[in-house]
Amino acid sequence: MNQDTKNLIIRGFHQSFGDKQKDLRLFFAPGRVNLIGEHTDYNYGLVLPFAINLGTSLAIRPNGTDSFRFVSSGFKENGEVKINAAFEQHKQNWWKYPLGVIEIFRKMGHNLPGHDFYFYGDLPHSAGLSSSASIEMVTAIALNNILSAGFGNFQLVEIARKAENEFIGLNCGIMDMYAIGMGKPGKAIKLDCNSNDGQLVSIDFTGKAFMVSNTNRPRGLADSKYNERVAECKQGLALAAHHLKLQNLGQLTVNDLVSIKPFFKEQTIYNRLFHVASENERVREMVDALETADFKQIGVLLNASHLSLRNDYEVSCFELDVLTEEANKLSFTDGSRMTGAGFGGCTLSLIDDQAKNEFAAKVGEAYLRKTNRAADFYMVHPADGIHEININD
Ligand code: GLA
Repeated sequence: MNQDTKNLIIRGFHQSFGDKQKDLRLFFAPGRVNLIGEHTDYNYGLVLPFAINLGTSLAIRPNGTDSFRFVSSGFKENGEVKINAAFEQHKQNWWKYPLGVIEIFRKMGHNLPGHDFYFYGDLPHSAGLSSSASIEMVTAIALNNILSAGFGNFQLVEIARKAENEFIGLNCGIMDMYAIGMGKPGKAIKLDCNSNDGQLVSIDFTGKAFMVSNTNRPRGLADSKYNERVAECKQGLALAAHHLKLQNLGQLTVNDLVSIKPFFKEQTIYNRLFHVASENERVREMVDALETADFKQIGVLLNASHLSLRNDYEVSCFELDVLTEEANKLSFTDGSRMTGAGFGGCTLSLIDDQAKNEFAAKVGEAYLRKTNRAADFYMVHPADGIHEININD
């Protein structure tokens, strides 16, 4: 983190809570994008995300009271919550994210005394770049270090996921937290969500750039639609497991699925499974393509993933489709797909590095014309996972 950003955060903290420097600590958690392997994590399949250079910082200090106070540069409302309160009643506010993590620590016997929290972030909210997981993970590393709880990063990943599943109520998989906890510069992580075994894959290509395009479309019913997909996969697994030896959909191959097609009365459920099985195969093929820097094939896989999410899994939307189609009209685009849960949010495109400005101008202009919305563009690169920042450096 550069000195200017650090000063900005410290100033924000002081303006919110007063300016004694003592005991102030600073932590950072990135966001993530997923290169490929979408809606496979909660099916115990394969994913290939990377931590990015945008994220959430947390300046935090004990306040000597029996309350937590929450301020964020990204939200207008501030929160104050008694340390022994029932946190449930705060579930409508943004500070439910740090509270969820504080709650899981509390259940494990690690009680945080009164602290002031100042969050500062440059991740767009609700855009599919895991801003919520980033807030949860920055809180998790802060509590771990402040309370000397002794958890390793993978345990913090599990704590943050628990907070999301049990406190927030979204049945998400492990991908977001894992990428944010374990990210490394220059690398994506091929994560097997059944064994939780992660392997680093180099994606640091000279002359290429990862461009994120934000639809700026509010995600609306995203959470309920997400939980609906989780339920449909469960239903599909129960049916498939009658005919095949399967514990989870991560083990399902496209060939096996095709062989039991006649048993599916609901085409929708079959399509959901077809996406999961084919997406898992695409993750493996993507790793091979990355290892040989085969940009043509990387592009083919990105585009195939998008079509599968659009047609079989039905989590894309008009705005995401326009962004990917417009991206693919440009000769310097290798491929493009929606990234994250879908129903709005962002796309990820691999493009020639020197064409960044042209990409944003051309895709942005066509997107505005077709959707009446302005898109935002961010260059992202694979960056470090959660860490503490020395405030005195
Ligand atoms: C969200 C969830 C992840 C994953 C993706 C879809 O980001 O939090 O666990 O399921 O959607 O791949």
